[in-house]
Amino acid sequence: MRTYCVTGGAGFIGSHWCERLLSLGHRVVCIDNFADFYDYKIKISNVLQSTGTKRAFPYRNKKEDLSRLPDFVNGPAYKLVVADIRHSDELEAIFEQERIDAVIHLAAMAGVRPSIDNPLLYEDVNVRGTMQVLEAMRKHGVRKWLCASSSSVYGNQLKVPFSEQDVVDRSISPYAATKKSCEVVGHTYHHLYGIDTIMLRFFTVYGARQRPDLAIYKFTRMLDHGEELTVYGDGSTRRDYTYIDDIIDGMLGALHYVESREPVYEIVNLGTNHTIELAELVQTIENELGRKANIRRLPKQPGDVEKTYADITKANRLFGYEPKTQLAQGITRFVTWYRSECVW
Ligand SMILES: NC(=O)c1ccc[n+]([C@@H]2O[C@H](COP(=O)([O-])OP(=O)(O)OC[C@H]3O[C@@H](n4cnc5c(N)ncnc54)[C@H](O)[C@@H]3O)[C@@H](O)[C@H]2O)c1
Repeated sequence: MRTYCVTGGAGFIGSHWCERLLSLGHRVVCIDNFADFYDYKIKISNVLQSTGTKRAFPYRNKKEDLSRLPDFVNGPAYKLVVADIRHSDELEAIFEQERIDAVIHLAAMAGVRPSIDNPLLYEDVNVRGTMQVLEAMRKHGVRKWLCASSSSVYGNQLKVPFSEQDVVDRSISPYAATKKSCEVVGHTYHHLYGIDTIMLRFFTVYGARQRPDLAIYKFTRMLDHGEELTVYGDGSTRRDYTYIDDIIDGMLGALHYVESREPVYEIVNLGTNHTIELAELVQTIENELGRKANIRRLPKQPGDVEKTYADITKANRLFGYEPKTQLAQGITRFVTWYRSECVW
């Protein structure tokens, strides 16, 4: 049994990741501040599901709920600490108490469009917060690190598929710029302090517990409620949609890789190597729900990239990454979850 510190473990990807680590018999120290990017109750539900807690949680208000939640879910294998990665004293207390084998850093302000409205908050959490995590690791001798980067670092690059060797100096949103910064800062700490690192560039992740601001969740909900579907642009943008289970498998491969070697500093795409047009995504959801969308088109949003398309040969070569879920299959699973378990 190893002890892994997961930042952002109450979020969409983080809760699946914690669940998988627990199922493999590891101990998880989860740090999350339940940021207001979306409803904190969704994240409480994520924590309950990822820890297999069946008891109903008595919601009152955010402050009280977050102070009671750790007692509700904590046990020998799982410890939730409601803390902000920007606060060094909070991190210090955790790293002082725990013997952490590796950190999987997922906490961030996610989302491209809101980063344009609030760039300094994104910089504060995603860059400064990441540096605080690295500082805590440095001081406490933790030398293995996975960090969430993003396909958005490729900007509007024309060459496809996107490869890790491509130069990514042309971000088109503050969010993307912060993720690129994390990659650079990660390299600095690797070079200076020997922190073995894999930066994982996730490509549009979807599945159960998906963030409510993301297209697949929004479209499903609007269609299900018989609402008009708001689509930005002419439907020709393309994304490499990656199912959550494939991402978690990829993360496990990366974790094994970084833990079994040194020195390691790698940047690795986790996508599917298929790119799907927005119009086709809408059609797939329509087919699954058995409803036809009434589409309202709005202008393309600033910061949105034209396409994402991952070259995944590096992840395959380094740790055998092989995504298995086709879009139609993943949407079927997502809608099944939406109908049976989604509580928001
Ligand atoms: N979902 C995707 O398609 C996608 C794609 C590319 C990259 N990523 C990256 O993957 C990671 C996880 O994304 P997600 O979709 O699960 O997002 P999410 O918002 O569901 O999860 C992020 C978690 O971080 C927590 N957090 C935010 N600020 C914090 C702070 N200051 N201190 C402590 N915790 C804080 C949030 O409360 C949340 O639970 C993020 O780094 C994101 O940028 C996600």
